[in-house]
Amino acid sequence: MKGYSRITGTGSCLPPHRVSNEALAAQLARDGVETSDAWIVERTGIRARHFAAAEVVSSDLALVAARAALEAADCDAASIDLIIVATSTPDMIFPSTACIVQNKLGVHGCAAFDVQAVCSGFVYALTVADSMIRTGAASKALVIGSEVFSRILDFKDRTTCVLFGDGAGAVVLEASDRPGILATELRADGRHANILCTPGTVAAGKVLGHPWLRMDGPAVFKLAVTVLEDAARSVLAKADRTEADIDWLIPHQANIRIMQSTARKLKLAPERLIVTVDEHGNTSAASIPLALDESVRSGKVKPGDTVLLEGVGGGFTWGAVLLDF
Ligand code: ACO
Repeated sequence: MKGYSRITGTGSCLPPHRVSNEALAAQLARDGVETSDAWIVERTGIRARHFAAAEVVSSDLALVAARAALEAADCDAASIDLIIVATSTPDMIFPSTACIVQNKLGVHGCAAFDVQAVCSGFVYALTVADSMIRTGAASKALVIGSEVFSRILDFKDRTTCVLFGDGAGAVVLEASDRPGILATELRADGRHANILCTPGTVAAGKVLGHPWLRMDGPAVFKLAVTVLEDAARSVLAKADRTEADIDWLIPHQANIRIMQSTARKLKLAPERLIVTVDEHGNTSAASIPLALDESVRSGKVKPGDTVLLEGVGGGFTWGAVLLDF
């Protein structure tokens, strides 16, 4: 049995419909909701996001990202023995989006399940896949983050609807004799469940509760900056590395101010921080693999680079993965 897991390919998918801040502000203004490009850019760093067409579901975006990752890894879908999809906007209550993706890929029989850890979902899913590979339960995994957050946005609530977008990212993770993933850390604190939630469910044939995303932005901000620093220090210590070893920081892309604050605390030069939030908005579980794929394809992240992935989001959940690419 091989002792490690490594990322051997990345892929992503953004729906073609790009919505700039100006276009969103004009659309919201028609419903009497006031916002501006200046406010959104100054508070979040977001300039645009992509929204999926009405008929497009998470598994559609996931499929495109998965195929791109398989191609990059030079890997046949039939050789995949584990599919994990991180999503909070699944196609259905059940079956899992991972099972739907498996079927769309035309491969059948391998383990497939979803992970629900909101914006930390990809870091959770990657950690589970790494653990399963290292114990021999799987040897070649597709790990996907995919979201259509536009479906759960209340476009009458300017404090949330300007922040999120749709998209997907994927990696192929394979068993390897040399490390790839060096250390992982997953954390959660359910006492903060109410600061970021979509508190609805389906029962008795109806939506019960509230079907739109709700957030206490300042409370999330405060918690996020603290836990991201802790998670980074924890994985570095576990891997016996220091901040100086980090070539690239790819944090969850929610808000440029949270991301820059984390980079500063880790004493990283600003150019070591991968930023896609400006063009993607917050795509929840998709944000990290989307940013990873963009930085690999643009030639920033190269084989051998040390990369720190960090997720934080509803639950409250957070975590980090340190890896040699
Ligand atoms: N356009 C214009 N004005 C707005 C908007 C908007 N879209 N949204 C809020 N405002 C107004 C508020 O009404 C308030 O007005 P008031 O002072 O007259 O009451 C003012 O702007 C300031 O509001 P705050 O909520 O205090 O603004 P803040 O500087 O905290 O920024 C933000 C809000 C961007 C949400 C910030 O708190 C944040 O980024 N928090 C982190 C949350 C986050 O990143 N969430 C993503 C999901 S969670 C995750 O992925 C980690």
